Amino acid sequence: MPQATVHVLPRPYQASIENGLLSRAGSLLAELLPNASRVFVVTVAPVRKRWGSKFLASLKAAGFNPQVIMMPDGEPAKRLETVEAMAEKLAKMGADRKSVIIALGGGVVGDVAGLLASLYMRGVEFVQVPTTVLAQVDASIGGKTGVNLVAGKNLLGTFYHPRVVLIDPAVLKTLPDREFRAGLYEAIKCGIIGNVELFIRFEQNRDRILKRDPAELEWLIAQSVKLKAEVVSADEHEGGLRRVLNLGHTIGHALEAETGYRKLLHGEAVAWGTIAATNIALSVGRTDSVTAGRISDAVLSLGRLPELNVSTTKIIGRLQADKKTQNGVVHFVLPREIGKVEISSDVPERAVIGAVEELRRLSRSASGRAR
Ligand SMILES: NC(=O)c1ccc[n+]([C@@H]2O[C@H](COP(=O)([O-])OP(=O)(O)OC[C@H]3O[C@@H](n4cnc5c(N)ncnc54)[C@H](O)[C@@H]3O)[C@@H](O)[C@H]2O)c1
Ligand SMILES: [Zn+2]
Repeated sequence: MPQATVHVLPRPYQASIENGLLSRAGSLLAELLPNASRVFVVTVAPVRKRWGSKFLASLKAAGFNPQVIMMPDGEPAKRLETVEAMAEKLAKMGADRKSVIIALGGGVVGDVAGLLASLYMRGVEFVQVPTTVLAQVDASIGGKTGVNLVAGKNLLGTFYHPRVVLIDPAVLKTLPDREFRAGLYEAIKCGIIGNVELFIRFEQNRDRILKRDPAELEWLIAQSVKLKAEVVSADEHEGGLRRVLNLGHTIGHALEAETGYRKLLHGEAVAWGTIAATNIALSVGRTDSVTAGRISDAVLSLGRLPELNVSTTKIIGRLQADKKTQNGVVHFVLPREIGKVEISSDVPERAVIGAVEELRRLSRSASGRAR
């Protein structure tokens, strides 16, 4: 079974990736957590409906008596009050320090359940069972937990690593199409950052990927997880290297914020942001037109992206505001070649303006049409 180790202190942990893993989750957890008193599965309705019984059956077969804690679905549920409500439920159900919290769901469930696990009785064991592409390749690895404040996304959170991450790519077959593709942009990102072979899969096996061929998905998720695990292992708290994971996110975040977090899924904003970063790299001479063309084509070939009706001035304004919160510099991750990026803090504003203008043009002409 493909595995990646996240080397963090005080205890490294594994991410295991295998089709059908959900059915073996119980026995794996029984081995890993022999002292678990109780297990609590945090999930949302769409996931429970499709995958809940399979997962719970596997826990029961391994001798656990799992309790389910439901939370509301979607980004608006990423609030501290959700954490508090679930903590009250845990207490009522008699959860103690030896209890285990399992997140079964997408990034929202993982972020909220992770925060809950880090806070309840000052920290109980935590397990991630991610069920979206985004959560499998990105959110479940690296230990960031969090909820949103009115003032901004993910402003309240902790670093709290899970004991193990169990990834079953087979659960992706019930994921809505748009969510599925949105997560794939983070996987393409991993290819651009440091895995040429992964990137080439998107060029050569696009149709199999979009048809959700199980072997294909298992492979590309495993490769993406390995890349994220390596980066996090080298730089747990985003001091330097971990920033490479922000490829596409500088402009991506500005686009998400500017469209009120309603129009674009996170992965879609990253897709546009990746194209923008690539065009910036091209205009400042950090990459060549062949590489830039390959990246844009790979991103756009996955299908329709929402059109961008954003003002360039407002996007630049958002980046300026970010600058204030980031010690006066905005970092751009720029692709140099496929599999290699660099972090730049001196991108001239006109390059950014040009890239955003280009996005607007592209989005009008290309968003409707998959190449
Ligand atoms: N902690 C991190 O490092 C990190 C990294 C990236 C993103 N995030 C966070 O992740 C969140 C986004 O996560 P997401 O994209 O997974 O969204 P999500 O958790 O909202 O899931 C998307 C939708 O898919 C549904 N769903 C999940 N799995 C399904 C399945 N197998 N079948 C059918 N439906 C399913 C969910 O119920 C939800 O409606 C954001 O809040 C973001 O901030 C965190
Ligand atoms: Zn992201």
